[in-house]
Amino acid sequence: MSEDKLKSLLQQVKYPGFSKDVVSFGLIQNVKVIDKDVELGVKFSSEKEDIRQQILGNIEKVLRDGGFEKISIEVIQIPTQKAASNSRDPASPPSIPGVKYTIAVASGKGGVGKSTVAVNLAAALKEQGHSVGILDLDVFGPSLPITMGIMEVPKVLEANKLLPVKKHDISLMSLGFLLTESAPVIWRGAMVSKMVSQFLFDVNWGELDYLILDLPPGTGDVQLTLVQQVALTGAVIVTTPQDLALKDVERGANMFEKVNTPVLGIVENMSYHVCTNCGHRSQIFSSGGGDKESARLSVPLLAKIPLNEDVMRAGEQGEPLVFYIPESEAAQIFMQIAEQIHTLVN
Ligand SMILES: Nc1ncnc2c1ncn2[C@@H]1O[C@H](COP(=O)(O)OP(=O)(O)OP(=O)(O)O)[C@@H](O)[C@H]1O
Ligand SMILES: [Mg+2]
Repeated sequence: MSEDKLKSLLQQVKYPGFSKDVVSFGLIQNVKVIDKDVELGVKFSSEKEDIRQQILGNIEKVLRDGGFEKISIEVIQIPTQKAASNSRDPASPPSIPGVKYTIAVASGKGGVGKSTVAVNLAAALKEQGHSVGILDLDVFGPSLPITMGIMEVPKVLEANKLLPVKKHDISLMSLGFLLTESAPVIWRGAMVSKMVSQFLFDVNWGELDYLILDLPPGTGDVQLTLVQQVALTGAVIVTTPQDLALKDVERGANMFEKVNTPVLGIVENMSYHVCTNCGHRSQIFSSGGGDKESARLSVPLLAKIPLNEDVMRAGEQGEPLVFYIPESEAAQIFMQIAEQIHTLVN
């Protein structure tokens, strides 16, 4: 028996409700195969006992049917926000009032499509019936007014709370709403963190299922200070398939580890190009980087998004692609990412 054989057997086990298998979801860890004996760990972020039992039962069955004799499976539970809040250490940061799940979208490098993923993830969650907000924390280059096509000064409520701007019934907040168009944004460190904590806790979000945080690019001090201030449910890391971007993924994963936040998955953006004339798929960057990185860091590769004119045009138009061209391939992929995230946090 070999690890390859084990992998191909495990690939037959689908995550309940998905067409994706447990290997590509990144759930399998610490594999050891000796002869007909196998040891492996299965990572769960879900607290749903029925899902867990179903997966464990199916793994056991395919391995037994495939010829393994001694099978030992270790369950590795990743703490969810719910679990974390039960045993919350008093030093850990507070959650945002009224918000059920806070998801950070991060990237090591700029320009990889983080804001595009953030707004489309939000739009897809909205389409799937959840109440959603987006907080653009990119104080140096706020993009939400452009990607959502709205420029409105937020109302200030009593006690100086800001009321989010709304579009498509999604609650929005961005420093971009508070600046005049051409004002230069030259903030010193202290200003940035003050501004950000105001953004995190002085916005009246009402009741939200999901708040998506669009972080500034990078994994340095600015980003770390940010993610330390608030209890996050999980993080999504956006990358392109190039090597440099992938090293940045690792730094991103390390940053979230420091603040005990699970990385829910990697999204590989601009992965391939589909020719609009002939439908041919071509890899423009070296391919498969996200796969390798996700296996190495044992976090799921949630999706690969094509480099696509529709994505770009929707961005320019100020509409999330999920609303603008819902039938497009990339929009469908965003819908799947949203479903996966909803499953991973529940
Ligand atoms: N899959 C894609 N296909 C085509 N264009 C894309 C795709 N993803 C993003 N873009 C375009 O690339 C540009 C950068 O994307 P975006 O602003 O989302 O990146 P970002 O990581 O948030 O950048 P920054 O680091 O500046 O915040 C935008 O013009 C966007 O429309
Ligand atoms: Mg951005």
